[in-house]
Amino acid sequence: MSIASTHTVPLLDLQAQHESIRGEVLEAILPLIDAQRFILGEPVEKLERAVAAYCGTAHAIGCANGTDALFLALLALEVGPGDEVLTVPFTFFATAGAVVRTGATPVFVDIDPATFNMDPARLEDALKRHPKAKAILPVHLYGACADMDAILALAAPRGIPVVEDAAQAIGAEYRGRRAGSLGAIGCFSFFPSKNLGGYGDGGILTTNDAELAARLKALRVHGSREKYIHEWAGINSRLDALQAAVLLVKLKHLDAWTEGRRANAARYKEMLAGLGLPAVLPREAEHTTRHVYNQFVLRCERRDELRAFLATEAIGTEVYYPLPLHLQKCFAALGGREGDHPVSEACCKDVLAMPVYAELTAAQMSRVCGALRRFYGR
Ligand SMILES: Cc1ncc(COP(=O)(O)O)c(C=O)c1O
Repeated sequence: MSIASTHTVPLLDLQAQHESIRGEVLEAILPLIDAQRFILGEPVEKLERAVAAYCGTAHAIGCANGTDALFLALLALEVGPGDEVLTVPFTFFATAGAVVRTGATPVFVDIDPATFNMDPARLEDALKRHPKAKAILPVHLYGACADMDAILALAAPRGIPVVEDAAQAIGAEYRGRRAGSLGAIGCFSFFPSKNLGGYGDGGILTTNDAELAARLKALRVHGSREKYIHEWAGINSRLDALQAAVLLVKLKHLDAWTEGRRANAARYKEMLAGLGLPAVLPREAEHTTRHVYNQFVLRCERRDELRAFLATEAIGTEVYYPLPLHLQKCFAALGGREGDHPVSEACCKDVLAMPVYAELTAAQMSRVCGALRRFYGR
């Protein structure tokens, strides 16, 4: 454990994780530095095979980051100007940002308050108004899968592909099936704070469709399969060999870290249940057979005051997310108004993410729970 974390409880302690794998990582990257081989290549191919196996898909295609993964997925599905993509307003900007980058328009669908994910009933309503939507883009927020059977049951008869924004959900399971294997394409981020995080930016796409996989492989290298011959107007979105080498080391530990997060979430629930705190603990839907707790999020009264109090106690928290996407200035032209998506708007006012990383100690968790009790006078 890092020295800082004995005195404070940071939201995430990457230093503690790094100390446990430092030797392995240095051993993995040194030969690549010596060989001066940095872009794609064997480590990336190895990582692609390993992630495909981990997610239960036939193919995985590395790329530069999770935002590009979403953009590439939409390009591969030929989403472009004039098209509409149904997605949620309660997510990180990149979900809708990627849609806009293709020239298409995001159409927002509110979330289910029990799961923080796309509400299939709202999706059904939206499909009545937007029957020609070119894609549906649910997010597996905080590490739990959206209700994919219900979403696919609406999408499939209309021939609309579903792209999973699984940036926060590597290893998450929906009725026993892994995130990224449920829709047409799964999109993952290796941003350092993700459960499988690189030493910089990185991303990967998963699919069972060989044709889509071939197209994605080309799109990430300027749409080219043959050097200097361009079938599509692709982009430069390659994964570095060094990142792949780091991620291959980390992937071996991912299940242990995920189980650590899940155990910490269970312990929080045990410690906080029955105290009568005006804070709602996260619930796991029946379809969630494995929540990977990229975030452990409470819905709480006086959220901002609580957050400031916890900061004075040296306890790190974060608000994911304070403003829904339909109310963001950059999407003003879409005409979103307050009241359009009430569940997302309410969540933006009361969610608070607590530390849940695997290396968190029992003593640190007791400190967090003690501080919550004191703040609420329990
Ligand atoms: C839900 C969601 N989608 C997309 C992204 C984008 O990933 P990246 O930061 O790797 O571009 C993130 C990560 O921040 C995310 O949390």
